[in-house]
Amino acid sequence: MSLKPRARSAAITVRAAAKVNLHLRVGAVRADGYHELTTVFQAVSLFDDVTVRAADVLSVQTSGEGAAEVPDDPALNLAGRAAVRVDPDARVAIEIGKSIPVAGGMAGGSADAAASLLACTRLLGVGWSRAELIAAAADLGSDVPFGLHGGTALGVGRGERLSPVLSRGQYHWVLAIAKTGLATPAVFAELDRLRAKEAAAEPVTHRPDDLLRALAAGEVEQVAALLHNDLQPAALSLQPTLRRTLSAGVDAGALAGIVSGSGPTCAFLCADEEAAVRVAAELAGRGVAKSVRTAHGPVPGCRIV
Ligand code: C5P
Repeated sequence: MSLKPRARSAAITVRAAAKVNLHLRVGAVRADGYHELTTVFQAVSLFDDVTVRAADVLSVQTSGEGAAEVPDDPALNLAGRAAVRVDPDARVAIEIGKSIPVAGGMAGGSADAAASLLACTRLLGVGWSRAELIAAAADLGSDVPFGLHGGTALGVGRGERLSPVLSRGQYHWVLAIAKTGLATPAVFAELDRLRAKEAAAEPVTHRPDDLLRALAAGEVEQVAALLHNDLQPAALSLQPTLRRTLSAGVDAGALAGIVSGSGPTCAFLCADEEAAVRVAAELAGRGVAKSVRTAHGPVPGCRIV
């Protein structure tokens, strides 16, 4: 009789949140090809649900927002790769219900990987410590540890080394989801190209102390004034129409707008929930995005539901 605890639970569902980067400074390219960076992540209330159950073979199936663009080959899908990282012989069926935009700069794939890691360790009875789970997450991608962590965090290294950030209050966002996605490597490559062309000075990635203070104090207007993303010029260079989206959100009454991570989702910070609903309605009416959503943050990282 197999003592493998696969049958302990028929299925495990883990909910994982999207992120926005409140601050993203990209430094020099490292020997391993990644860029050194300093970032402040905030997890926001757009969620993917990842359900894992015992099966004869490893498989991945995706439904929901943008599902057609997500590879179902477990070798290519980050959630499938996460299962193999937990057990090279993982025989599980993974179902991903997507609400986080695909290739949107909101770490949707990373959230799915984090959720799959957590679900597979539980389903397969793998007794990893939290440190082992985080190390596996970092192997899978720079944003995957934050997918587990959630809340608000400072990320350094390639973004995978996290420390929690004290954050007071709730932040209300409007998210403008673009018609076509952007591939993260292409956006970093565009930043390198732009920097080479400008012969820019060595970029700096110091800790954003002003932003950290504003978050600790819950000063939303100050946070809005300090939003910063070094990848934004590269995302705008690849998708120039995002300029129109950004100004439309601010015209509609947002405190500030920013490209989320590598884009192309534009994130608008609003004074409160009511303002976010108004800005979302106005942005939707202007037709500058495929869809417009409201969300709040910070929310927790991966959790079993
Ligand atoms: O870590 P992850 O696989 O999510 O990164 C995707 C791509 O984004 C990398 O292959 C790299 O091109 C780029 N990247 C980078 N520097 C980072 C994080 C990501 O250049 N710190």
